[in-house]
Amino acid sequence: MWLGMVLAVTGMTFFVETARTQSASAPVTAEQDHANMMQQLGIEALRPGPSGDESAPNHANYDESKANPYPKIPDPLMMENGEKVTTPTMWWHERRPQLLEEFSEYVYGKVPKDVPAVRWTVTAVDHENLGFRPVIAKDLIGEVDNAADPAISVKIHMTLVTPANAKGPVPVLMMFGPAGFPNPHEPSAEEFARINAAWKKMATAEDPTLAQVFSDHPAWEPFHATPFRFPQLNADGGFPNTWQLIADGWGFVLIDPASVQADNGEGLRRGIIGLVNKGQPRKPDDWGALRAWAWGAGRGLDYLETDPAVDAKHVGIEGVSRYGKAALVTMAFDQRFAMVLVGSSGKGGATLLRRNFGEAVESLTGGEYYWMAGNFLKYGASKAKFGSMNPGDIPVDSNELIALCAPRLTFISYGSPAKGDSKWLDHEGSFKATMDANRVFTFLGAKGLTMDGKPYTGPMPPINQGILDGQLAWRQHDGGHTDAPNMKYFIAWADRWIGHSATE
Ligand code: GCU
Repeated sequence: MWLGMVLAVTGMTFFVETARTQSASAPVTAEQDHANMMQQLGIEALRPGPSGDESAPNHANYDESKANPYPKIPDPLMMENGEKVTTPTMWWHERRPQLLEEFSEYVYGKVPKDVPAVRWTVTAVDHENLGFRPVIAKDLIGEVDNAADPAISVKIHMTLVTPANAKGPVPVLMMFGPAGFPNPHEPSAEEFARINAAWKKMATAEDPTLAQVFSDHPAWEPFHATPFRFPQLNADGGFPNTWQLIADGWGFVLIDPASVQADNGEGLRRGIIGLVNKGQPRKPDDWGALRAWAWGAGRGLDYLETDPAVDAKHVGIEGVSRYGKAALVTMAFDQRFAMVLVGSSGKGGATLLRRNFGEAVESLTGGEYYWMAGNFLKYGASKAKFGSMNPGDIPVDSNELIALCAPRLTFISYGSPAKGDSKWLDHEGSFKATMDANRVFTFLGAKGLTMDGKPYTGPMPPINQGILDGQLAWRQHDGGHTDAPNMKYFIAWADRWIGHSATE
């Protein structure tokens, strides 16, 4: 009887726990989550995004004469009320905060005020060689306090790699992508022999008849050293980005965006966004994945500020494609980042939202909606309680996002459409935005787009011709959908501005 009651009580507790856990993380599809946001916003229908396939009847526009349906782009140097920004002080105290607020409210979403703290732990330190240079690699986990919803766990994974022979703190490029040890050392030949002997002993203990098999094949060993393999070279035949950085006396960080927030709509009720919302749907001005990834990078920088191997005043952020967007968002919002390499970022990144060329606002309000704030869906709405809206209604544009990076070192990078950095990304629109953002760089006293010692006034330069003399830089390389062929230009350019040189 007594036992029965305890069981019943325990059973009830268990039931309640399960129910709560399930409600916190009830799985939804991206379609259901998207529909939920449309409903919150009173949107009945969205315009469909164009197809990326040029032979499809509904393919994206690639006709430059139709690419600028909203030719008047918002002016970063004009307040919302039409007042001109006349001094740098006015930029820093009024216009910049206004732009940050608008990008948060309407485009990328707001970082909630109550995001829980992150506790960093160095989980392992490895001594490796990268490009024949000794490095120290630290694997790190940033565990987010999940007391608010124990069913959701967020562990940010990053790896910090610095040259072992550095004489002092080094500049570091943080790169969005899978984290992990870049080049773990293998056991030595003698250690392999011990591992193999122990393994054979274990196998024989499990199945004594294997003794005969091993003695029939005395030369066979279960574990071998990996044969020497040349590293995977960059698209331009150069050494991997990580090697180049180390060779130049930089460190780098690999930070895994998926460990912060999933790259899909169904994940919005998990990850850091889901944790803060306790597994519930986003509100219209909540952050999307791009802002969450940028937040994660900021937490990574919090750690770097505590690590004596790192020159935390010279930490850059890098990413390609969707992570190129994330890198630009990171740089725009978090002024502690000293530089950015924005690779092939397209819509939601460097190219103008108002342009109709390749990827459209309607792509970002459709399948890619989870990168953005819910509110962004409004600009793709064809039928809603507020009528309809279009890209021309977005209060801000990418020229202003790039301007938010000023006067810090900002390198906008693309590849060549002929080599696979597709037209979808709208290189021309990105260049136009960069040119306009340039006004803010020079307004703040920085050296803007400059080529051969002269301010650059356009047009978009040919492939391989960089505009690399100023604090705002542009280069389209002749490779594909990567920033690797631009890495050596980035390093040389950043070195010049931060006064760093490779130390042997
Ligand atoms: C798609 C998407 C882009 C994105 C790219 C990527 O092409 O439309 O916005 O940048 O994927 O990240 O690979």
